[in-house]
Amino acid sequence: MVKPHNQYMPKPKPAAPKTQAPSDQLDLRSGQSIELLKALHILTREGKINQDSRRKLKQVNHLFQFIEKPLTEMLSQRLAQGSTMPIILADHGAGKSYLGFMIHDLFFKPQQAAHGRSVGQVIGIETRTELVAASQQLAQQLGFEEGMQFVNASVSQATADHRLPEQVDMVTALHACDTATDDAIAFGLTKQAQYMALVPCCQAEVAACLRQDKALQLARTPLAELWRHPLHTREMGSQITNVMRCLYLESQGYQVTVTELVGWEHSMKNELILAHRSGQKKRSAGERLHALLAELGLKDWGLRRFTALEN
Ligand SMILES: C[S@@+](CC[C@H](N)C(=O)[O-])C[C@H]1O[C@@H](n2cnc3c(N)ncnc32)[C@H](O)[C@@H]1O
Repeated sequence: MVKPHNQYMPKPKPAAPKTQAPSDQLDLRSGQSIELLKALHILTREGKINQDSRRKLKQVNHLFQFIEKPLTEMLSQRLAQGSTMPIILADHGAGKSYLGFMIHDLFFKPQQAAHGRSVGQVIGIETRTELVAASQQLAQQLGFEEGMQFVNASVSQATADHRLPEQVDMVTALHACDTATDDAIAFGLTKQAQYMALVPCCQAEVAACLRQDKALQLARTPLAELWRHPLHTREMGSQITNVMRCLYLESQGYQVTVTELVGWEHSMKNELILAHRSGQKKRSAGERLHALLAELGLKDWGLRRFTALEN
């Protein structure tokens, strides 16, 4: 006889799986190398992960999702044209090069295997010598050295650095500190990058300008109430900086999309600016940028930062 179901009885818990592959727990992408994640110390030797590493992995995998499509499109275009020109991706403020290694692992390495030749290169740009040396060593150890290069330079120096090619195809900057995102934009403009994917860190310059002229601005415009309190000064400084970065990119011939990288619970610095070069410089964006700079008392700063902006 079938027992009647008692709705007040607690439902039996499903049995926990005895062993769970790390990829199930980690939400990894198909083909993503566990060995690489261990070599990067994102996973422990036993395949475990802590909260910080989980957060970083999520950020990097999400960013890769956004850049995979443009990389694929650029490669298809080159193959269709019979071009063997490598795709060059410059990653600014590379740190331990998590992003660079994963782009190589998930995109360039399988494409190299499919086409029987190298199809591109990731160049990590980083000021900290020890991180550059460690990345170089790891790339050699993993046999990635053909597709990866690491340059010990600041982002602002990188534009004129002879080790870097005249043109790059894609610029990435994941939490590159402070003004390094602005330098990455300047680099991308000079190198005529087709795509830029920027996740800015906090930027202190604009907040400092707002702070300096606060009394004056509060008297002049009610909008200055938006940054009267110190916390708001910092937040508004970041917000204004990112808004202006987008206008600047549009004024220089890029189509811009702004979205969030991951859920806010994973990172406070979560804004992703995606820019695609259309070559159509948007005059109205430049005019808006000039007007905003004037309205907020940031003209001098704007002249220093947005050097390609026409008057
Ligand atoms: C917050 S970490 C992010 C590292 C990496 N992109 C990631 O998401 O794991 C920022 C890195 O940028 C580097 N950095 C800061 N300013 C830089 C600059 N102007 N040029 C090059 N690297 C810079 C720092 O040394 C640091 O390694």
